Amino acid sequence: MKYFIGNWKMFGVPKSVNILNKINLFYSEDKNRNKYRVIITPPFTLIESYSKYFKNKSISIGAQNCYQKDQFSSNTAAISSYMLRSVGAKYTLIGHSDNRSEGDNDTMLKDKVRYALKNNLKVVFCIGENKTEKKNKKTLNVLKRQLMKVLEKKFNKKNIIVAYEPIWSIGTGQIPTANELQKTTIHIKKVLKGIFKKNSPAVLYGGSVDGSNVKMFKEIKEIDGFLIGGASKTSKKFIDIIKNYYR
Ligand code: 13P
Repeated sequence: MKYFIGNWKMFGVPKSVNILNKINLFYSEDKNRNKYRVIITPPFTLIESYSKYFKNKSISIGAQNCYQKDQFSSNTAAISSYMLRSVGAKYTLIGHSDNRSEGDNDTMLKDKVRYALKNNLKVVFCIGENKTEKKNKKTLNVLKRQLMKVLEKKFNKKNIIVAYEPIWSIGTGQIPTANELQKTTIHIKKVLKGIFKKNSPAVLYGGSVDGSNVKMFKEIKEIDGFLIGGASKTSKKFIDIIKNYYR
């Protein structure tokens, strides 16, 4: 099973549902639809209405983050996995570099993962190195550390997806070479097999994915799908990625 996850970040108002309607229509008529899942993570403000709207349709709705406590607490503006699940979210991103750079650390991320799983959300755990780490050839070490600090054997790996998003590639148009990316993905899966024993959860790639470079990514069979930012805000761009992936 492959995954095409669209992360809207700070984008979208109720009428933006039109974008998802087009994606849903494409999916429902696509002969390859049994091979992949489409998940969209709109901002918190749209999760309830979109989850209701797409309840019996093909698109699943997820959140972009969750708070590191269970159920309810006295933290102003915090939103827990329990609250997200109660309005229909099925997934949540955790550890996106945007949130790591705003202060999410490994301890917080571990609690986020724990409570998300406890509240029946599937977790898309994001990891990635920055430009300096890449330049200093620290990528593999950084990724290993990010995984080992947060994921544990006792977590249900069936409900975990890992997204590799090199920070230098997010929104920049720069992407890793096929060779680099294949090596990195194999490394990530090896670390994950070490944590979970036997098989690794799915590993996605994210960072400037679009309708043309997806042809290169599809040659890397270790990649189980994509986390798509910019190109998920336009139905045509998002659909082109799926179309060209299966072409
Ligand atoms: P872009 O596809 O815009 O580079 O964003 C990637 C991303 O951060 C998805 O979470």
